[in-house]
Amino acid sequence: MSGDQCRRRVGIVGYGHLGQYLVQRLRDDGLRHGLELAFVWNRDADKLKGMVPAELRLGKLTDFLERHADIIVEVAHPCIAQAYGESFLRTADFMVGSPTALAGLETELKLRAVAQQSGHTLYIPSGALWGGQDIQRMDEGGMLQALTVTMVKHPDSFRLGGHLGELARHARQERTVLYDGPVRGLCPLAPNNVNTMAAACMAASSLGFDGVKGCLVADPALPDYHVVETEATGPGGFSVHTRRKNPAACGAVTGSATFAAFWSSLLVCRGHGGRVYLC
Ligand SMILES: NC(=O)c1ccc[n+]([C@@H]2O[C@H](COP(=O)([O-])OP(=O)(O)OC[C@H]3O[C@@H](n4cnc5c(N)ncnc54)[C@H](O)[C@@H]3O)[C@@H](O)[C@H]2O)c1
Repeated sequence: MSGDQCRRRVGIVGYGHLGQYLVQRLRDDGLRHGLELAFVWNRDADKLKGMVPAELRLGKLTDFLERHADIIVEVAHPCIAQAYGESFLRTADFMVGSPTALAGLETELKLRAVAQQSGHTLYIPSGALWGGQDIQRMDEGGMLQALTVTMVKHPDSFRLGGHLGELARHARQERTVLYDGPVRGLCPLAPNNVNTMAAACMAASSLGFDGVKGCLVADPALPDYHVVETEATGPGGFSVHTRRKNPAACGAVTGSATFAAFWSSLLVCRGHGGRVYLC
C-alpha cells in the first residue's frame, strides 16, 4: 500500500485484552495493510499512559470526530454501541466488537437504519463463528429455516452473574446446560460470553435474535479449549453442522484464536456501503 491518501484511519474504543492486541498490531503492521491509528479511547484513561503516545489518546469519546477516523472499532462493552453506535456510523464505518449489544431491538434497528442512510458499513466480526458468510448467503437466498449455535466452555471460563453464574459454579462437578432458547433472552444474561451467537443472529437476519437458538453449556472436561457448534437447516433435508475447537488459556473468557480473528476481521473492513457486513 502506498500514499497517505490510501490509508484508513482506525479509532479503537476500549483498551482491554482485545484493544491492546489491536493497537499493538496496528502499530507493528498497520502501515503494511494501509491502516493507521487515529485514536485510542479507554474508560480509565490512566491505563493508556506510558502505553499509547499522547497524541493518539482520546480523552473524551464525544470528541471522536476531531480524529477523522474512517473506521471505529468497539472492543469495550455493549453499552458503547448502544450509546455511540449511531453517531459513529454517521461519519465512519463501525465494527461492533460486542454484538450482544444488538440484541436490544431498538439498537439493532437504529444501527441498521443509520448504516443505510449514511452509506457507512456496520461490521460484525465473526469471532468464533465458522461459516458466518455462508449462513448470511443462505439467509439472503431465503433458504435458512433454522439455526442453532452451541457454545461449550469450562465453568471457570464464564463471566456470569445471577442464576447462570450459580449454575456455572455447580457445573464444576458435571456438564450442565446453562441456557437453551432464543439468543435474544441470553445476551443480557451473558453479554461477554455469547458474542459469537449474536454474530450468528446478525448473519441470519430473517431468523434474528428471536429465531436463532442458543445453547450455552459448562463442561469441566474442557480445561484448555472452547467449542462452538453450529447447526443450520434448509429445505428438502439440507443441513450443515460445524464444530470449532478454539484453544483457550485455563479460565480465559476469550479464546486465543479470537485475537487473530479480530485482526483479520479488521483487515476486511475497507468500506462495503450502507449495510451490515459480517467480517
Ligand atoms: N465478538 C467476539 O467474538 C468477542 C470476543 C471476545 C470479546 N468480545 C467483547 O469485546 C469486548 C472487549 O473484550 P476484552 O476481552 O478486550 O475485554 P476486557 O475486559 O479485557 O476489556 C474491556 C475494556 O473495556 C473497558 N470497559 C469495561 N466496561 C466498560 C463500560 N461500561 N464502558 C466503557 N468501557 C468499559 C474496560 O475498562 C477495559 O479496558 C467485550 O465486550 C467482549 O464481550 C467479543
